Amino acid sequence: MSGVAAGGSRTLPSSARAPGKCILFGEHAVVHGAPELLFAVDLRTQVVVRAAAETTLNADPRASESNPYFRAALEALWASGPPVEVRSVSRLPRAAGLGSSAAFLAALATALLPEGAAGRPAELAQRCFSLERQAQGVGSPGDTSASVAGGYLTVNSPRGAALWTIEGDSRRWEVRRLEDPGWVWIVAYSGVPRSTADAVRAFARRLENADGPKLLDRFASVAHRGIDALARGDREGVAREMEENQALLREVGVSHPRLEALLEAVAPAAEGAKLTGAGCGGSIVVLPRSGRETEAMRRLARAGAVPFPVRASTTGAEAVGPE
Ligand code: MEV
Repeated sequence: MSGVAAGGSRTLPSSARAPGKCILFGEHAVVHGAPELLFAVDLRTQVVVRAAAETTLNADPRASESNPYFRAALEALWASGPPVEVRSVSRLPRAAGLGSSAAFLAALATALLPEGAAGRPAELAQRCFSLERQAQGVGSPGDTSASVAGGYLTVNSPRGAALWTIEGDSRRWEVRRLEDPGWVWIVAYSGVPRSTADAVRAFARRLENADGPKLLDRFASVAHRGIDALARGDREGVAREMEENQALLREVGVSHPRLEALLEAVAPAAEGAKLTGAGCGGSIVVLPRSGRETEAMRRLARAGAVPFPVRASTTGAEAVGPE
């Protein structure tokens, strides 16, 4: 990887933060080259890195063995650096489909890389994607790009202003910035954790069936229509394509009975809703009916979810003064 120096030359202590993400269209299919629309959520992970006698993550000295994201980042970005104590605090629930690992990687990379790396976001996005791929084994650069860039992004779509191209696994993904429509969304965590890698592999197996290419085309068409609708500020169009996307995700088996129950519970107060992220548990995202946001939150809480209103984060990964 050119351009971003590795190896522990950062002055410590150092601190950085990065947002998680919410996918509106195209999860799973984006891994196979179809379009995706997502935005960075205004919920962040913040890390503080200090020199220490031994390397720990939140006081755990074994984290570099048990946490593949932490291990991958240390090996790639801090190979010749001294032991460090890393503290990570996040408002993102883990394994919930909201990009907690991408946010952690983007914040940690920003804190570990030499000062100024956040000023070269294309390199940082490529670096974070490679780390996530290494730790997870599968995936697309959507999550890590959102954590690095902030705002609304498209992947593999002609819509939006070109940001960067990410390479890996014999593929290239075009990432673009779309204007923020300023909408408030509700994300609701089902409380059912899931493994992104397992869900991504299950989806890939499903695409091996004879109808795989046609299925991928259907995902792509929905995402293109959804992206066009969001770009023209058409809430009804976005809501319609969210329902279509959910029908496809259900058909390929990455929904979950808990997610379906939440979608049913929120329906009267929602313009549109679908699962977000890898599915098989995790979270749903809701476009609430105007004026019925509180009702949507109440319906989801009553159905047993943890709902929170989110907007797009205007900022991506950034260094912050250590506390
Ligand atoms: C996970 O947040 C989104 C997936 O599409 C995987 C990926 O794009 O890396 C399921």
